[in-house]
Amino acid sequence: MSPIIYHDISSLREALQPYRGQQNDKQGRQQRIALVPTMGNLHDGHLELVKIAKQHADVVVVSIFVNPTQFGVGEDFDSYPRTLDADVAKLATVDADYVFAPSIDAMYPVLPPPTAVLSGAIANQLCGQSRPGHFDGVGIVVAKLFNIVQPDVAVFGQKDYQQLAIIKQLVRDLSYPINIIGAPIVRADDGLALSSRNQYLSANERQVAPVLHQALQELAQSLKSTALSQQAFDKLLVDTRTRISDAGFVIDYLEIKTDELGSIMSDSTTFNIENKNIVILVAAWLGRARLLDNQLVVVN
Ligand code: PAJ
Repeated sequence: MSPIIYHDISSLREALQPYRGQQNDKQGRQQRIALVPTMGNLHDGHLELVKIAKQHADVVVVSIFVNPTQFGVGEDFDSYPRTLDADVAKLATVDADYVFAPSIDAMYPVLPPPTAVLSGAIANQLCGQSRPGHFDGVGIVVAKLFNIVQPDVAVFGQKDYQQLAIIKQLVRDLSYPINIIGAPIVRADDGLALSSRNQYLSANERQVAPVLHQALQELAQSLKSTALSQQAFDKLLVDTRTRISDAGFVIDYLEIKTDELGSIMSDSTTFNIENKNIVILVAAWLGRARLLDNQLVVVN
């Protein structure tokens, strides 16, 4: 069945009211509401989040909003693909219940909003360093969506690893009673992580794009299998960078962090990954597309 679409906050709230505090007939527990925030132009990665949300809740709300506050000057806010009708048709195939597609005015009575939801140090590294203010925009829009929908569960993709970490921090620090679920990265058959921005790639660039995932996988394997000296570790990073650049990418960052995005350096000169789960994160430009990927490495 096609989801019901709401464009304004009060109608959505009214539609969700009956679910709050209601018993689920089958199991006699409270009904649960799930939220899947998106910017639309949906692909199978987004639909996977909806499927996961369905497993955790009785009613699933998908928000579709190209959020102006998370785009910097000169970024692709104007050209970001807006495909609401096609998105709604896709959401029908996974039984999403409600779509919340607000206007900019409905979300931001004052733009830019004078209120900030600060995300601290975690937001100033990686993507936050190359896109100043980006996570402030993500923080405020997600905080607003949480207040509007008041979900019990919200699902975010691990593809945007740093974003997921920041949302978990937001929920912890602002005491939102929301269970945050991180969903695995959905990839094309050749390994490229699905993304709305992949459509900026030319046919040739699309052929090359899977190198990013392959390079991360191989680096992960090397990090896992060898007891590395600092020198060997540095060389692995340099070799991975060279491989990605040689394929035609312009690297924004390639970094190795703990899975909570802390430093893996035990002091400023020695690296120590023993007994830590680590994550390799990359952002790189291929033509007009800035591609993100990451790979978790479980160190035993
Ligand atoms: P958007 O890029 O549309 O992504 C919406 C959600 O889908 C995010 O949680 C993202 O991590 C997830 N996602 C995207 N591609 C994925 C893939 N290949 N596999 C798994 N999950 C994937 O992220 C945003 O929108 C915005 O910043 C938002 C959180 C909606 C705030 O505006």
